[in-house]
Amino acid sequence: MDGRLKKFAVLNNKGGIGKSTIAVHVAHGLAIKGKKVLLIDMDGQNDASLFLGFTSEDYKKSFYNIAVENERVSLFECIIHARENLDLLPSRRIDLINLELYKEHNISSYLFNKLKEVESSAYDYVIIDCGPQRSRINDAALYYVDKIIVPVQVEAASVRAIGNIYEYLSDLGLDSTMISLVVPNMYDERTSDSKENLEFVKEFFSGSDVLTEPIYRRVKITETGKLGRTVYESDREAARQFDHIVERLVNIDGNKRQ
Ligand SMILES: Nc1ncnc2c1ncn2[C@@H]1O[C@H](COP(=O)(O)OP(=O)(O)OP(=O)(O)O)[C@@H](O)[C@H]1O
Ligand SMILES: [Mg+2]
Repeated sequence: MDGRLKKFAVLNNKGGIGKSTIAVHVAHGLAIKGKKVLLIDMDGQNDASLFLGFTSEDYKKSFYNIAVENERVSLFECIIHARENLDLLPSRRIDLINLELYKEHNISSYLFNKLKEVESSAYDYVIIDCGPQRSRINDAALYYVDKIIVPVQVEAASVRAIGNIYEYLSDLGLDSTMISLVVPNMYDERTSDSKENLEFVKEFFSGSDVLTEPIYRRVKITETGKLGRTVYESDREAARQFDHIVERLVNIDGNKRQ
């Protein structure tokens, strides 16, 4: 593996399907493996920060300051040391940043320019937790990262919407090979509906190697998130599921278009 910084966005246009959960667990899993990770919270509800135990009272500066105050704020004034090897860049007012971005002509290099300090940092990975739906901030994230991780909830509406991500990439002039992993989430082995939808996902991706093992629906995952902890800190069995994803991730080359 090359030692280059690798950048991933966790993205899917659908809401509530596990983007923040997967972003946080992948980031923590990589950190536990000894990789230096910067997790960027670009979800307007700050769920990634909350899942790691940080509320807006825990930080004064955030990505908002970098975005609006331009060169005057350093990345390192805004990050929170969240866990060993894992830093968090929280955000505020993603809605306002998004509005600002409509005026931005250089959207494809926007995040690179705003986060220049990342390039010379010690980080091995940048993981961006994106909010749902198409937005200017998600456009900017897609241009910034090398690859994306797409969680798909194993239920009919989510599964039917898989094609949207391809459309989104194509509209931005980006290649679908940016999709590095597709992670079926909230798989419930007790229901035939879940099994049928997982089969559909398997069929859909049968010609490629992006599909991972499913993450099962586990109450522990919901509970620990609410408590501001990851399953790496509370439930070995649930954590093992994310280890599979992390394992796949470290073997992915970071080139944007292969
Ligand atoms: N595998 C799972 N098992 C049980 N609960 C889960 C699982 N994955 C996610 N959840 C829970 O489902 C809810 C939605 O997950 P999450 O916030 O990660 O989704 P999201 O796609 O980031 O949502 P949004 O679109 O609002 O940003 C959360 O309460 C989370 O704890
Ligand atoms: Mg989220």
